Amino acid sequence: MRERRPYIGGNWKMFTDRNSASHLARGVIDGLARESSIDIAVFPPFPYLITVGSILRDRPSTIRLGAQDCWTKQEGAFTGEVSAHMLKDCDVRVVLAGHSERRHVIGEPDSLINQKVLAILEDGLDCILCVGETLEQREQGKADDVNREQLLKGLSFVRKEHLERLTIAYEPVWAIGTGRTALPHDAQDAHEKIRGLVASLYDAETAETIRIMYGGSVKPGNAQELFAQKDVDGGLIGGASLVAADFVAIARAGVVSAGRSSALG
Ligand code: PGA
Repeated sequence: MRERRPYIGGNWKMFTDRNSASHLARGVIDGLARESSIDIAVFPPFPYLITVGSILRDRPSTIRLGAQDCWTKQEGAFTGEVSAHMLKDCDVRVVLAGHSERRHVIGEPDSLINQKVLAILEDGLDCILCVGETLEQREQGKADDVNREQLLKGLSFVRKEHLERLTIAYEPVWAIGTGRTALPHDAQDAHEKIRGLVASLYDAETAETIRIMYGGSVKPGNAQELFAQKDVDGGLIGGASLVAADFVAIARAGVVSAGRSSALG
């Protein structure tokens, strides 16, 4: 059975400029170029993809170039949009879909997110599908239903063989950029339920091999405990990914958890 390597992503959101993005990319490579037991990706803003991509290419490493979003069609009259196809042409390997800021600030519905997931996978790219409940939904006891619904709709028509290139990110909205992190056992509980849902949608082996990252105020100080949870396969990092030393420290917590799972066999 395929082992679940920890996956650590740095979502730079709408931060950095050309200089600081280059500097950050170099800092990430300096700290992590030699790490081979985890998967690492950085998600710069669109205008800096080429610059960051060329920095990544110059220094051999396994760090992947990621994009924060894309449109559903390969090309066409969609002013302002960018296709998965174009991203691939710029050496992007992985694209986020359904980030909570796209859902709740921009207003993307599940049906659009699903079309994006399908477009990303059809184009041969990896996809990270983000799901997660708001504070209000959590307080109303609806967290599991919301995650279930977002996952069911996000994965509609996704073929089993494409799931090898899909990672799920559980990102409770109330924990994103707020400094509030889910307690490790709450994250574990949500991840276990999400894995169970994947088993019911596909099969047990698929559920066992799919990676589920946690996102929401992950910091160097809490990463290790979160990543130590059985069903937490790394993290999608926002704020802390803008400081190279913090992102490197978080990724190293992923390395520790990779060591732990290989020791367990
Ligand atoms: P945060 O963001 O680490 O700043 O909470 C996480 C995310 O939005 O992916």
